[in-house]
Amino acid sequence: MMTQDARWIDIGLASHIEPGTARTLPVQGGEEIAVFRTMRGEVYALVNKCPHKHGPLSQGIIHGDSVSCPLHNWRISLRSGEALGEDKGCTPTIPIKLDGGRIYISRKEALAGSRAEA
Ligand code: FES
Repeated sequence: MMTQDARWIDIGLASHIEPGTARTLPVQGGEEIAVFRTMRGEVYALVNKCPHKHGPLSQGIIHGDSVSCPLHNWRISLRSGEALGEDKGCTPTIPIKLDGGRIYISRKEALAGSRAEA
């Protein structure tokens, strides 16, 4: 039986990301992805670019289910990618699923910004 699903990319165990931190995934020819784990253990994946001036969101501070951009402190929802409060803009999010403690990200959105289709 096939256990690999072409729609999803296995990016490893959720437990390998400390709660309250993020790690980044390079995408060949495309936008780097940031994978966040909240203190409550939820996992979200977004393009690693603030909607303001492309600050690296993976280096921001996670509060609940939002992250503060390290450059000018905009708060970005990890659920929707939307800037919160007065600020306007949206970072693309990557659908994920958790299965057996592993994180899978949607291939289509993960490679959306990539010229070299895998
Ligand atoms: S680049 Fe993120 S707040 Fe300015």
